[in-house]
Amino acid sequence: MTIRDNESAAPIPVFADVDTGVDDAMALVYLFASEDADVVGIASTAGNVGVDQVCHNNLALLDLCGTHGVPVSRGADGPIASALRTAEDTHGPEGLGYAHLPSNGSTVTTYDAAEAWVRAARAHPGELVGIAVGPLTNLALAVRAEPALPTLLRRLVIMGGAFDYRGNTTAVAEWNVSVDPEAAAEVFHAWSAPGLTPPIVLGLNLTEHIALTPTLLTRLAAAAQSPTRAMSVLDDRGTRSVAANPLIRVLEDALRFYFEFHFDQGEGYLAHLHDPLAAAVALYPDLVQYRAATVDVELTGTLTRGMTIADWNGRWGRPPNALVGIGVDAGVFFDRFIDRVGPFARRLG
Ligand code: BDR
Ligand code: CA
Repeated sequence: MTIRDNESAAPIPVFADVDTGVDDAMALVYLFASEDADVVGIASTAGNVGVDQVCHNNLALLDLCGTHGVPVSRGADGPIASALRTAEDTHGPEGLGYAHLPSNGSTVTTYDAAEAWVRAARAHPGELVGIAVGPLTNLALAVRAEPALPTLLRRLVIMGGAFDYRGNTTAVAEWNVSVDPEAAAEVFHAWSAPGLTPPIVLGLNLTEHIALTPTLLTRLAAAAQSPTRAMSVLDDRGTRSVAANPLIRVLEDALRFYFEFHFDQGEGYLAHLHDPLAAAVALYPDLVQYRAATVDVELTGTLTRGMTIADWNGRWGRPPNALVGIGVDAGVFFDRFIDRVGPFARRLG
């Protein structure tokens, strides 16, 4: 199944819930660079790093990108029912690999991230596209506060889970769901009511097709007219970018760490861009092919907690509550990413 829904001329209001994170940062940059997206708010969720570091990264990234006036809200300190785990081994000590972004003194909103979801949805009823690419803590809290939230959104895109596919955090669980399984279960249940548009759910089975390589990164730098030195697995670890362009330099320093992490996992000198795929699908859902399923989250299994299970054939007797991504053309994704982010970076340089 494909979804065609990118015909409107006006920019699409987008609300992004992120745990920034290298690939979250790439997703935000993609949205900032997209003239057909109007980012109306950012929820900072604890996950890859602690929530205050996520807030800092979001505010500093906006500044780096010259994108002003986007409210950033702080989320809960940790998951709904379990202790927070973070992933500095994957994303670096500050969440952005080897990059360090200075603060410009801007601050988060006086209201929290759950309220930010509700405010954004009420301000753009039937129009807002939400993307959730971290643990679903704040989205679940938002639905508790406003049970009508699913009816207010035009579309919700979730990066989370792994469908008929191994996990990346436990043998069977993907990171975003594994960090806060109760929140994920609440979100899937909230979108189970009859008549709702099911969320688009992009799991590892799909997002691991979006593999950024040094060759593609060099193409991005060229599109930004910022000559750079192609990264290689033979480089000393932590080698810093020589790119003159400030955005390309930060992305290269961030991605170097992410490449090294993936290499150490035995996946090659590359980086899976899970969250940027969600950003792209928020604007162009027809980039991906889907299959409807009823999705639920295992909460009690001693070996399987956090696993996402898709009932493809209606065996539970419950209607579908998700459109699970099953196919994507990575070449189209990267062409579009480079076409947008390259010139955007050039204008900043
Ligand atoms: C997800 O986990 C995080 O580390 C990434 O940012 C992505 O959202 C992939 O499992
Ligand atoms: Ca993320």
